[in-house]
Amino acid sequence: MTTRAHPSDAPDSQPGPLQVVVLAAGKGTRMRSRLPKVLQPLAGRPLLEHVLQTAHGLHDARCVVVVGHEALAVRQAFAARPQLRFCEQSPQLGTGHAVQQACPQLDDAGVVLVLYGDVPLVRAQTLQPLLDAARAGALALLTVRLAQPAGYGRIVRDPQGRVLRIVEHKDASAEELRIDEVNSGILAAPAAALKRWVGSLRNDNAQREYYLTDVVQLAQAEGLAVHAVQAADADELLGVNDRLQLAQLERLAQRRSAEQLMRDGVTLLDPQRIEVRGELVCGCDVRIDVGCVFEGRVELADGVEVGPHCVLRNCRIGADSRIEAFSHVDGAVCGPGVRIGPYARLRPGSELARDVHVGNFTEVKNSTLGEGSKANHLSYVGDASVGARVNIGAGTITCNYDGADKYRTVIEDDAFIGSDSQLVAPVRVGRGATLGAGTTLTRDAPAGQLTLSRARQQSIEGWVRPQKKSST
Ligand code: UD1
Ligand code: CA
Repeated sequence: MTTRAHPSDAPDSQPGPLQVVVLAAGKGTRMRSRLPKVLQPLAGRPLLEHVLQTAHGLHDARCVVVVGHEALAVRQAFAARPQLRFCEQSPQLGTGHAVQQACPQLDDAGVVLVLYGDVPLVRAQTLQPLLDAARAGALALLTVRLAQPAGYGRIVRDPQGRVLRIVEHKDASAEELRIDEVNSGILAAPAAALKRWVGSLRNDNAQREYYLTDVVQLAQAEGLAVHAVQAADADELLGVNDRLQLAQLERLAQRRSAEQLMRDGVTLLDPQRIEVRGELVCGCDVRIDVGCVFEGRVELADGVEVGPHCVLRNCRIGADSRIEAFSHVDGAVCGPGVRIGPYARLRPGSELARDVHVGNFTEVKNSTLGEGSKANHLSYVGDASVGARVNIGAGTITCNYDGADKYRTVIEDDAFIGSDSQLVAPVRVGRGATLGAGTTLTRDAPAGQLTLSRARQQSIEGWVRPQKKSST
């Protein structure tokens, strides 16, 4: 065995926090987008957020993100995470140069893990063996065997199988290009050692860049062990360079989330036809039909059924509720036991109590509906406070907007709103009141009474329908 040039790198000398450096300075030219690559959405969240989420899942990790291209936009996108640190790399002179920029923010104690902002699917459990090796004093690389290794750095080993170096595709000989074990780019090392190595990188290569991969030779030169951990699942290491790859990763991410949902006890009628763009939290025996899209944070309690082709965004649905086909639920809190749709639309601020029914072509916005109330057909309920057991007849409209301001409609418990009524807000329907069909309500309707605003019906005896005059 070779001796250690730096006793501080000896095994068990890497206590202290895990420091994660995320490389996210590259331009992402091939995306052909105004949005920086690491902000492109995957499963509804920026690529970089996936990586940060994974890092967060590693015990005690502190993150430094290296930004460069569109640095401000990237920083702003994560402004809500004050504990996240950034450093700027400008100009971008390679992956090694990127890590150099982070060095002033890295403690010498502990280990450093380097992740890529555009490699979003890597899992914490895949990284763990790297961290263990680095904690034991080694340089650890995450590698994978690929049938199509073109473009990647290749792992060059000696006849005994020890890693000698990484050669970039553009610098590789014909023989090296035949190597199918490639560098994922992800690595871990003792912090002090990595800082030392990246400080002495050179750019005498085909791309005139400071390659992070050259730390392998520097580790060898110091007699440090270099471990290559082969990932079992190549999909985890896929990067995003263009929109084709982004689409490919989207399918993988969706498959992953569908499988997790099913493992958690959710029935998906077709796991290939669900899109989760954010966080979907389900109780037990939830059943989701095909073509549904979930955005933001959606919570479905036990026994909820979602029919085909629904869109649910930032909402909470109580136990045993049913959302029928083609409904849109956005920013609503419902249930338990509600029935929504088919073809219903709940907009932000909708609160539906137990056993409420909102049926086809009914829109609810910024309104509360009390227990057991129903608006089953073709209605608009906006800025309304509706009590319990209210029946809102077909075609009822709350006229909440006068072109300048919005006003509230109050409908008290047990009221009955006849079909095709307009409630011109601000207006109140008293407890147990009935509105006759076709009422245009402009003043409050007293409790318990029938209110109607309707021209009296008349029939004219002997009336004759006009005849067309002959044109001669
Ligand atoms: C790198 C590796 C290669 C590996 C491949 C895996 C090096 C020298 N090569 O090559 O061995 O097979 O990844 O995908 O490391 N970045 C910066 N600043 C820079 C350059 C890059 O932050 O100056 C970031 C990019 O935003 C990106 C990541 O580093 O997230 C990788 O950069 P990229 O240029 O794609 O590296 P590759 O040439 O693909
Ligand atoms: Ca790349």
